[in-house]
Amino acid sequence: MKFHMFAVCAPGLAACAAQELQRGGTLRAGKRQTVSVEAGGVRLHGDRAALYRANLHLRTPSRILVRLGDFRAENFGQLRCRAAKLGWEQYLVSGQAVELRVTCHQSRLYHSDAVAERVAAAIGERLGQAPALCVGDEEGDEQPPQLVVVRLVHDVCTISVDASGALLHRRGYRLATAKAPLRETLAAGLVMAAGWPAGDALPPPLLDPFCGSGTIPIEAALMALHIAPGRQRRFAFMAWPDFDADLWQRLLNEADRQSAARVHALDGHLSLFGSDRDAGAIMAAQANAGRAGVGNAITFACHALSAVHPPAGPGFVVTNPPYGRRVQGGADLRDLYAQLGNVLRQRCPGWQATILSSDRHLLMQTGLSLDASAAFVNGGISVTAGQACVPGAFPDL
Ligand SMILES: C[S@@+](CC[C@H](N)C(=O)[O-])C[C@H]1O[C@@H](n2cnc3c(N)ncnc32)[C@H](O)[C@@H]1O
Repeated sequence: MKFHMFAVCAPGLAACAAQELQRGGTLRAGKRQTVSVEAGGVRLHGDRAALYRANLHLRTPSRILVRLGDFRAENFGQLRCRAAKLGWEQYLVSGQAVELRVTCHQSRLYHSDAVAERVAAAIGERLGQAPALCVGDEEGDEQPPQLVVVRLVHDVCTISVDASGALLHRRGYRLATAKAPLRETLAAGLVMAAGWPAGDALPPPLLDPFCGSGTIPIEAALMALHIAPGRQRRFAFMAWPDFDADLWQRLLNEADRQSAARVHALDGHLSLFGSDRDAGAIMAAQANAGRAGVGNAITFACHALSAVHPPAGPGFVVTNPPYGRRVQGGADLRDLYAQLGNVLRQRCPGWQATILSSDRHLLMQTGLSLDASAAFVNGGISVTAGQACVPGAFPDL
């Protein structure tokens, strides 16, 4: 059975998701995947194992949608009749609670509630009982109801079912947070955008001097140790009537073998560091790293930026300093960014720095010649990753 999938990505992360897929082996053991990057995500296809693997292994998408069907719908009669022909029984049981998320663009059918009503009726016609419609909390701890996404564009209706459930950044390890945590998907994308070679025989050191709850070094450790980000969580596809529990178990075993081999190969040699001046943040980071299974791979320390003493490099600084709108404001932030630039020039010459901030003026305060071309969105705020090789003794990494 072939699935047409769409890996939905937050702004800026589709290129990272494509990079993950093209590296090979993510969806089909040992095989590269052909993907196309589109606005909002990456289109891909594959069998059931590929669908399960996409959820288990991809680090940067927010969710994986499976296309159930598409058809022209110029009036409600067509919509209901054509939607009722789709194979809903593969994904839903009769009467199951469903969240219908409808968007309409430049189509004769433009009233999203009325569209949802007809699609619900079509599901009822196909399965014998209409679903209870509800709105789930995709950020909550409970598994949300099955999400069905309906898009009408130029009178073509595309219906997809969500295979992921809770958003994929919810890996399951981050139960403790500090101020303004990054989404795990963005932290993973930032480490990829930084160019940190997680797959090297021995990846170079990576340091986050504003680590908060530890998301950046934890995601880096998961990448380097080939630990599947979805290893600890449940997915919506597990509740589908045709869920293949044996296949899922085989894929988990395969993922565990890969990570065990890598943990054995790197055994204590990874050089990952996180520090923060807030003792509560460091306690949260240590607890999160422990739950993620990477507690031994990261050295966390509680101290201010001024006390950072990086290991022998060169290496990578990947960090998300406070940027005013979410943590603190005022002139002291300009001083903090200037201090960051000074600390990096003095103690990290030749290191590759990637600094995420919402404020280009703050990035300029570092005095580093930052290339600010990588743009993302964090918590609804547009952010930029400024990147530079810190001037100093090691010009080539
Ligand atoms: C935006 S948060 C980082 C969030 C982190 N990436 C996460 O996912 O949890 C910035 C962090 O910088 C820390 N911080 C602020 N000023 C600092 C300083 N002078 N030295 C070290 N840490 C500092 C704060 O305690 C806060 O945890």
